[in-house]
Amino acid sequence: MDKLRKEILNCKKCNLCKLRTNAVPGEGSIQSKIFFIGEAPGANEDKEGIPFCGRSGKLLDELLDSIHLKRNDVFITNIVKCRPPENRDPSENEIKKCSPYLKRQIKIINPTVICTLGRYSASLFIKNRKISEIHGKVFKLGKYKVIPLYHPAVGLYNPNMKKILLEDFLVLKNL
Ligand code: URA
Ligand code: SF4
Repeated sequence: MDKLRKEILNCKKCNLCKLRTNAVPGEGSIQSKIFFIGEAPGANEDKEGIPFCGRSGKLLDELLDSIHLKRNDVFITNIVKCRPPENRDPSENEIKKCSPYLKRQIKIINPTVICTLGRYSASLFIKNRKISEIHGKVFKLGKYKVIPLYHPAVGLYNPNMKKILLEDFLVLKNL
């Protein structure tokens, strides 16, 4: 993982490398059985080099705390490791160039459960389904159980969505 981390920090495989302050490889326990995948670093993450360290991250911490987990009990990363300008969605090419890193991280950690955050990350595993239909369900894919979750950002200003996020985290707790 250390070697992979260094590769990511120095990566120049797509154009996002030109705009980043820091690549954001991911953080958490490499012994964890729970692997979270967000979308892409935002401004705070780009500045700090740490995933989910801004407002969405604060809500993610709260959601983890609601099922008695801490950041260090899980591993957290993103589909793309560098911030897209103006927080636009990552392009197909950027996802293609960056996803080998994600695959290697999953292989190293070998989690039991993969929680995707947001529709982009869900669509890596479950194609052509709406997040509104699949959130909070458990999909058995090969040796992994995948739980698609809404992105924590949607719960920031919408109490109903936050409630759904809290309910969906109970699915993870029960697993
Ligand atoms: N949103 C994401 O998807 N990832 C982060 O790291 C921060 C915000
Ligand atoms: Fe490399 Fe991924 Fe960053 Fe693109 S987004 S430069 S592929 S680490």
